[in-house]
Amino acid sequence: MSIEASAQLQTFTEIPALRAQVRAWRNAGERIAFVPTMGNLHDGHLSLVTVAKQHATRVVASIFVNPTQFGPKEDFASYPRTLAADQALLASGGCDALFAPTVATMYPAHVKNSPNFAIDVGAIGNILCGAVRPGHFSGVATVVAKLFNIVQADAAVFGEKDFQQLLVLRNLVDQFNFPIEIIGAPTIREAGGLARSSRNQYLSAEEREQARVIYATLLQMRDMRDRGIDAESVQDHALTTLRAAGLTPDYAAIRDAQTLDLINENTTNEVAMIAARLGKARLIDNIYWKNAGPIDLLAKSN
Ligand code: PAF
Repeated sequence: MSIEASAQLQTFTEIPALRAQVRAWRNAGERIAFVPTMGNLHDGHLSLVTVAKQHATRVVASIFVNPTQFGPKEDFASYPRTLAADQALLASGGCDALFAPTVATMYPAHVKNSPNFAIDVGAIGNILCGAVRPGHFSGVATVVAKLFNIVQADAAVFGEKDFQQLLVLRNLVDQFNFPIEIIGAPTIREAGGLARSSRNQYLSAEEREQARVIYATLLQMRDMRDRGIDAESVQDHALTTLRAAGLTPDYAAIRDAQTLDLINENTTNEVAMIAARLGKARLIDNIYWKNAGPIDLLAKSN
């Protein structure tokens, strides 16, 4: 089924109709970029569409609040679902098609053990956010693999704000040889530095001010590393700063930006990462750098 949401944006809820459209574009020589989302779209998502348009002639977005990447006590049920507003935003951003499937379409009942029939993403899925959210990255990798097979795009764009997710998905593509290019898009920030996120709406006005400490702390972490301060002291300092500002950090970490391993004397690409709870929100952010010169890893996003 295809529902016309606007002159520009076609919305598909079923796989065959979406595939037929993508095939028609491909047969006409077009290049297709894909922007997977869970909806409740904001400027950050729109920037992914903008990046996608720089890499393709057609952009397909998806909106699917994926149950398998939420833990039992997480916000799956209350995650904001705002399809009409999302369609309008995607149309205004020049997106060509939206895939908005139901849970039954994504996890068909005839598949034994669906939706628990999932991809194991290995150790990178069990550290940092994966340690706090067991099974999360397996759920993400599984739904993204399914979406890649459904949409069959040439490229897919993911936000660098979800840095660990981006690395997990690069691994997914390399491990399973998906014929798709993964493009990282820079984090969009509010004035004051808070990274744009659908979960920012869980914050009160006062908490939004408080949350600025996350980006300020990341900049401080990079500065301390530039001054040669060891990673452990930098992390301890960051945790103290976040707690003093009233946040409850899950972690503040300096890691190798290509592997998320602990850094050593040979590490050149570093990333500072923070996950912290504030009120009803769990917020994540990061900044990355190369110790000498610009980083190579995510150069495609620039
Ligand atoms: O980043 C997100 O919004 C989700 O994790 C994704 C990639 C759409 C998979 O559900």
